[in-house]
Amino acid sequence: MEPKSVSFSKTTLTELMIPAYANFGGKIHGGILLSLMDKVAYACASKHAGSYVVTVSVEGVDFLQPVNVGELVSLHASINYVGKSSMVVGIKVISEDVKLGLAKHTNTSYFTMVAKNEQNEAAQVPPLILENKEEVRRFLEAIKRKNIKQQNKEALNNEKNRLNIENELPMLDGERVILNIN
Ligand SMILES: CC(C)(COP(=O)(O)OP(=O)(O)OC[C@H]1O[C@@H](n2cnc3c(N)ncnc32)[C@H](O)[C@@H]1OP(=O)(O)O)[C@@H](O)C(=O)NCCC(=O)NCCS
Repeated sequence: MEPKSVSFSKTTLTELMIPAYANFGGKIHGGILLSLMDKVAYACASKHAGSYVVTVSVEGVDFLQPVNVGELVSLHASINYVGKSSMVVGIKVISEDVKLGLAKHTNTSYFTMVAKNEQNEAAQVPPLILENKEEVRRFLEAIKRKNIKQQNKEALNNEKNRLNIENELPMLDGERVILNIN
């Protein structure tokens, strides 16, 4: 399979935030931004893979700043990592008030996409050519994120299996709950 560079599939999607995307306070719904992120992740990953892709996992979605009606939102996507059939697309979201000339970084998230063949099976993707230190840093970070996610998953499963309600009740001290159980 012919390797492809990061720049080959780099994609930017820019969209005007219209009133239909907003809540009563004029702030854009988080789901609108998620949908745009999914769209740009699809465009970027399918270009690298040269095939149909699906979204498998989403990480790092924290909306740090509100986005307002009238702002121009740009989503910059690039392939950070490739496995056999999976690709991690890093997406940086910038929202710009064009009248004031102010741009804010609202979030950076990571979408894992998997390439599929005609039989709907996971399909191999081309290797990635890393052309500068930044691309190498992103690839290494993605490996670390993947390992930490696996460790967290195992730790959480262990905690869930070990959870004993009677023993853990002191954890509720200081929480804003009222116990009203028999
Ligand atoms: C995710 C999916 C492709 C896994 O298929 P599978 O036949 O079990 O294949 P595998 O276990 O070999 O996994 C395929 C790749 O997905 C990756 N993967 C699977 N689950 C994952 C997860 N939770 N997070 C990150 N990557 C994951 C695997 O690591 C593997 O990567 P690699 O090929 O680069 O090593 C399959 O479950 C699927 O199609 N899910 C539905 C996706 C979808 O429809 N999304 C849209 C939501 S509406």
